[in-house]
Amino acid sequence: MADPVVVVDSSPPTVNGVNVVDSPSNIDAVKVVDSSPPTVNVVNVADSPSNVDAVKVVDSTPPTVNGVNVVDGPSDVHTVNVVNGEPPSVAVVNGVDGVNVVNDGPSPVNVVNGIDAVKVVDRPLPSDNVKPINPALLRPESVSGVMEHALQHRDRVGVQDFVLLEDYRSEAAFIDNLRKRFKENLIYTYIGNVLISVNPYKHLPIYTEEKTKLYFKKAFFEASPHVFAIADNAYRSLVYEHREQCILISGESGSGKTEASKKVLEYIAARTNHLRNVERVKDKLLQSNPLLEAFGNAKTHRNDNSSRFGKYMDIQFNYEGAPEGGHILNYLLEKSRVVSQMSGERNFHIFYQLLSGGDNELLAYLKLQGRPEAYKYTTDSVSQVSQKITDAEQFRTVREAMKVIEIGEDEQREIFAIVASVLHLGNIKFVQNDKGFAEILSHDANCNNVAELLQVDPTKLCEALTSRTIEARGDVVNTPLDQEQARYARDALAKAIYDRHFSWLVSRLNTSLDPKEKDPRASVMGILDIYGFEIFPKNSFEQFCINFCNEKLQQLFIQLTLKSEQEEYLREGIEWEPVEYFNNIIICDLVEAKHRGIISVLDDECLRPGEATDASFLEKLNQQLGGHPHYKSHRKVDSRTQKLMGRDEFCIVHYAGEVTYSVNTFLEKNNDLLFRDLQTLMSSSGNSTVAKCFQDLKLHSKKRPETAITQFKNSLNELIKILSSKEPSYIRCIKPNDFKTPMQFDDKLVSHQVKYLGLMENLRVRRAGFAYRRTYEVFLERYKCLSAETWPNFRGHPRDGVLKVVTALKYEKEEYRMGNTKIFIRFPKTLFETEDAFQLKRNDVATIIQSRWRGYWQRKKYLRMKEAAVVIQKWVRRYLAQKLKERRKNAAQVIRSFIKGFITRNGPETPENRRFLGIAKVHWLKRLSTRLPKKVLDLSWPPCPATCQEASKELHRLYRAHLSRKYRLALSPVNKKQFELKVLAEKIFKGKKTSYPASVRERFITERLAKELHVLRNSFMASPSWPTGEQLIYSTDAVKFDRRGYKPRDRALLASDKALYVVDASGRKTFKLKHRLPLEKIKVVVTNESDNLILIKIPQELKKDKGDLIIQVSHLIEALSVVTDYTKRPDIIDIVDTRMITHNRQSGKDGVIEVTNGPQPSIHRAKSGNLLVVAVP
Ligand SMILES: Nc1ncnc2c1ncn2[C@@H]1O[C@H](COP(=O)(O)OP(=O)(O)OP(=O)(O)O)[C@@H](O)[C@H]1O
Ligand SMILES: [Mg+2]
Repeated sequence: MADPVVVVDSSPPTVNGVNVVDSPSNIDAVKVVDSSPPTVNVVNVADSPSNVDAVKVVDSTPPTVNGVNVVDGPSDVHTVNVVNGEPPSVAVVNGVDGVNVVNDGPSPVNVVNGIDAVKVVDRPLPSDNVKPINPALLRPESVSGVMEHALQHRDRVGVQDFVLLEDYRSEAAFIDNLRKRFKENLIYTYIGNVLISVNPYKHLPIYTEEKTKLYFKKAFFEASPHVFAIADNAYRSLVYEHREQCILISGESGSGKTEASKKVLEYIAARTNHLRNVERVKDKLLQSNPLLEAFGNAKTHRNDNSSRFGKYMDIQFNYEGAPEGGHILNYLLEKSRVVSQMSGERNFHIFYQLLSGGDNELLAYLKLQGRPEAYKYTTDSVSQVSQKITDAEQFRTVREAMKVIEIGEDEQREIFAIVASVLHLGNIKFVQNDKGFAEILSHDANCNNVAELLQVDPTKLCEALTSRTIEARGDVVNTPLDQEQARYARDALAKAIYDRHFSWLVSRLNTSLDPKEKDPRASVMGILDIYGFEIFPKNSFEQFCINFCNEKLQQLFIQLTLKSEQEEYLREGIEWEPVEYFNNIIICDLVEAKHRGIISVLDDECLRPGEATDASFLEKLNQQLGGHPHYKSHRKVDSRTQKLMGRDEFCIVHYAGEVTYSVNTFLEKNNDLLFRDLQTLMSSSGNSTVAKCFQDLKLHSKKRPETAITQFKNSLNELIKILSSKEPSYIRCIKPNDFKTPMQFDDKLVSHQVKYLGLMENLRVRRAGFAYRRTYEVFLERYKCLSAETWPNFRGHPRDGVLKVVTALKYEKEEYRMGNTKIFIRFPKTLFETEDAFQLKRNDVATIIQSRWRGYWQRKKYLRMKEAAVVIQKWVRRYLAQKLKERRKNAAQVIRSFIKGFITRNGPETPENRRFLGIAKVHWLKRLSTRLPKKVLDLSWPPCPATCQEASKELHRLYRAHLSRKYRLALSPVNKKQFELKVLAEKIFKGKKTSYPASVRERFITERLAKELHVLRNSFMASPSWPTGEQLIYSTDAVKFDRRGYKPRDRALLASDKALYVVDASGRKTFKLKHRLPLEKIKVVVTNESDNLILIKIPQELKKDKGDLIIQVSHLIEALSVVTDYTKRPDIIDIVDTRMITHNRQSGKDGVIEVTNGPQPSIHRAKSGNLLVVAVP
């Protein structure tokens, strides 16, 4: 029975704006705890809830799921915007079990459910602002606008690459640029890939860890010039391209070479920090510096920490790029410093460090007093207290470094014993004995100390210092030395010990730095920290060596850069316009050419038998090289120079300028002879280090050792060979002033250095060639995004791709060349512009990536939210559906019982039919209430159920009474009177006179007199015939029938409250009173027919001579009712139903009035003589 019942709920379920306030009892999973506005107001469910696709965002107002503006359908997710730029604060929603929408914005937290499975994820979108897309992707016409900005940003001050210098031939412009940058603490500037570094003489915050990281994997122009950029470039070429590298650092003393080399090392250490097993090697490499500096550096006028040796350091990297070892080559230690220093300068640091920092035990062991002043070799400078403290501190550093280098305690003692022995040696005094020879006093402890420390026989030492064994033609002759010779021997020994010990130390370091396992794939990066060109007022053998070294390095530079550049152009098939540059090979030849060169002459002079002197050496030079364009002898120069030049001097026109050398001590220094006795003695030393240092000499004792300059030349050539095999990077250091002061820029001093570092030449060559070249692959990879045709991938040959990029960038023809494998770009400016375009484009690309990413992210979020919305929907729908189902079920039940009640409505009472009947009654009553008759006279009444008949009747009655009452209450007094009159008329006439029904309809009025008679009446009433105070109640026209002959006569009938007045109205001038009949005296007879005849019976006393009055009025019932209303005497009216009525005539005779029916009413005298009244039946 229940099944067919269908309850239709037409309203579709929507979750739009639904606020679920109370907890649905049967959906336990969802618990809504907040009644605040619902957060999910996006979705309008148009279709089946299970169908995700049916979810539509139909509302055109921006849906607001917590700040996310879903603009379009789900397919278009990248258009999802974040409104207000605020991070959307939606957290969402996990799949099925529940929903959790958390709003962390200012609005209150909304719906939260407590299901375990729900996760609240609050992931704010990164609010970084998307950079605006730049329309100018291509290179602008000139370096202006955005590009200008980028360039200027890069070259904040001056130009950061001299190649960009407009006036590149002007030294003034060059120095101006250097100065400008220096003043802004920009100490680094490039010439192409050569780094110029100006010593700031102060700490700059440009070497921090953060800054270091800036240079990781950066192309040259990506960050401002820096030694780190050089280091990184070299490192990358080494590791990724497997090209061995060397970094050549040059500059004058104090210009910052050693600091730069340390920075390179530090950078490499930082750069390789993440690699395995590098800690120990890195420590060793870094710690080699303090050790070498302690032994090889000294305070000079120009530099408090001047390196007094040349250093080339190899760092070996394994295939991963991790440093695994190193090797150091040292050159030309300034050993003369051991025995004498210029005033204000110091000996090597280690002496002072040992004296200030050595503990008592060590000093006692070394038999030293802790005062530098106590030793001749260290007395020359007066040490300040602060200096002592620094020295002491550095001594600790040195010992730490030794530990790292794995120099054990014993070895350390041996080393310090050597250092101490040098100090003691310096204090040995010679006295002149009787024979005029030198002698050491027996109580001179110094000699013994030296012997003890070096573990040699003290007597032998004494002898060796004061005498000399000469082998001549097989005979061994021992000759005593004079004081001067002894001092020379002593100093020579000191220098030899220190110098060889230093070399030993380097080799000791190398042993420690040597990689444990040789990796065949290892590659090497060299760092050369070597003295730059030196031009002093007095230049000697050392300067000669150093400047020769610089000539060689310049030659290398020329070979590596210019020549290789030309070769590359050739290889790449690019036409090359030769650059005019000065090739210094001619100077190198001047110095080192076999048999002809200066070195050759010097060696010859040193080795030849006979009296060779510095002067004879100079003479030979002048003879042999006098005609050389780069050699100037005193004799040959112009007179002006002659004045400046001494006779013992010669001049070389170096590539960096002219240098005048004094030949004094050339031979001596070149010979570098240590008396054989001393050598032999030392090689027998019990101190193993000393023994090692002098060992090889012992082996070749017969053979003359190579001269100093030849040794130097050989090692230099060795070095050049090493360097030639590598790709060079150059760091040119410049010293801004002579006072070690920050912020001072001495133009003259700098200009000098610029000249002898060959920087202008360097720049010129750089500008002549192509500033930049890269293989097509590399170039295309970087800049492919600059052409739509090559982005994101170019399928063709890289060369074609590069051509497309170049075309897109509108390169001018002279700006670039296409080689066989590389593109060559002539001006850095072009490259910078390209790079700028790339940087700009990169923003765009970033924006695209960003937008894609955000789109992706938002889409994911959107999908999650959609899913969440569906989940919410599902639950809400479920809830609503369950409610609906419940309602339908209830409804079906109600309907079922209703129908049952209907069927059994007439049977015995059951709950169903009772309810049905109740409902039926209610419905009837409701229906009735709408269909009640509106008018009193409407007697209709709606039907009612059978069970309500009685009630219906009663209700009808009540309602009618109510209607009547309402009607009555609404009556006006006039109408009320009318009704009273009508009721009176009914009482008197109803059922008695035929004309009564017709009178009901017509309204009773009291004025029936013709209008024209009103004036007459009024004047009548004003006449004495009308007693004062009497009130007119009714007036009408009337017809009086004579008693005799029944002749009709027009009369007017006036009724007052007292009497009836019959007046003659025929005259029309005045009313003439015919009768005045007091009301209480008369009786009235009327027929029961429809006529209007009144027979007024007049009592005897009023009759005089007349009889009864027969009169006809127009409205009989009205007239009699109105009058009776006043008299309150209905009994005077007699309604007779006889056909014959007799009436009194004059003098007691009776007349007869016959009443009959007829179609035409009339009253007239019948033939019978009676008055005939014909009434319409
Ligand atoms: N980049 C720098 N930042 C700060 N100070 C520096 C820098 N470079 C050098 N200096 C300062 O200049 C001094 C001299 O530098 P450095 O010892 O490197 O010169 P050098 O060129 O090696 O000289 P020499 O040829 O005498 O060895 C340093 O001790 C240091 O005080
Ligand atoms: Mg140095």
